[in-house]
Amino acid sequence: MADPGMRHAIVQLLLEAGEACLSGQQISSRLGISRAAVWKHIEALRHDGFDICAQTARGYRLRHCPDRLLPAAIDAGLTTAFVGRQIDYHACIDSTNERASQLARAGAEEGLVVLAEEQSAGRGRLGRSWRSPAGVNLYASLVLRPQVPLNQAAQLTFLSAVAVARAVEQISGLQVQLKWPNDVLLQGHKLAGLLNELSAETEGIHHLIVGIGVNLNMTADQFSADLRYPATSLLLATGRPVDRVHFAQLLFQELEQLYLLLQRSGFTPLRLAWEALCDLTGRSVQVDCGSEILYGTVAGLAEDGALLLRTAAGDIHPVYAGDVRP
Ligand code: BTN
Repeated sequence: MADPGMRHAIVQLLLEAGEACLSGQQISSRLGISRAAVWKHIEALRHDGFDICAQTARGYRLRHCPDRLLPAAIDAGLTTAFVGRQIDYHACIDSTNERASQLARAGAEEGLVVLAEEQSAGRGRLGRSWRSPAGVNLYASLVLRPQVPLNQAAQLTFLSAVAVARAVEQISGLQVQLKWPNDVLLQGHKLAGLLNELSAETEGIHHLIVGIGVNLNMTADQFSADLRYPATSLLLATGRPVDRVHFAQLLFQELEQLYLLLQRSGFTPLRLAWEALCDLTGRSVQVDCGSEILYGTVAGLAEDGALLLRTAAGDIHPVYAGDVRP
């Protein structure tokens, strides 16, 4: 009788009840199932790690949720209007971006988030893979359907970087540094990876998948040895484990606020927020573009997402691809 929807609904009711007990009869009439079915679902939830106590004549009370990114737990404290209101949750999946693309092609609504505890083929930028061990981090892919011309799509690249930075600061008090185009670093170590994947035609955007991987409770031995950057997690940086459900709520809230701000006020506020978190702004850098190395001072971001480099001659040079180093 695996029925994740019904179990989700029972957890939701118990979370809403808080310290109060809910009787089997109350749950059964709220959900339209028999009391025997309620009991079987409660047993299945206990088996999955939910600590649910039963008190004679009073009913059930949820004492503790397992450390999982369960939609019901996230939903219980979420203040968004649409981001994360629908969650497609997986214990293990190849890639949340892949799954979100499939759902978006099939008509998923804006705001749907695919979440997984583990990815078996997590995708990184430039064809790299993204290490995704089970139960410790956040692997999320958000479906957006921005009504903007194709040449503004690059602006959305900066949405998730700023949202991650704000969520990290709220949960840990730590300030990250953003590196163009979309690396999130903590004291020079990679904390998060962002992978936006666009489906569009010349007439406009069909959908955008905003893929976000944040290293939350990963331990040192869970990183692979061959990393482009040294990497870190919030656990390694602070010594304290992060409440992943709370982090997901903060992240979804920041994503929604920034997305609405972008729609309402254009790119400038997002650009300024990103530039303030980029510690290379105003500093001398070199940009390895593959075919050539450019030198200059970082002047900020252009409207189309290019990095603006002020050369020694005083010209402003837009950079569309490359590796920026101090
Ligand atoms: C990078 O190379 O820095 C980007 C990594 C992006 C990883 C995230 S994890 C969630 C989402 N699903 C994927 O397969 N990739 C992104």
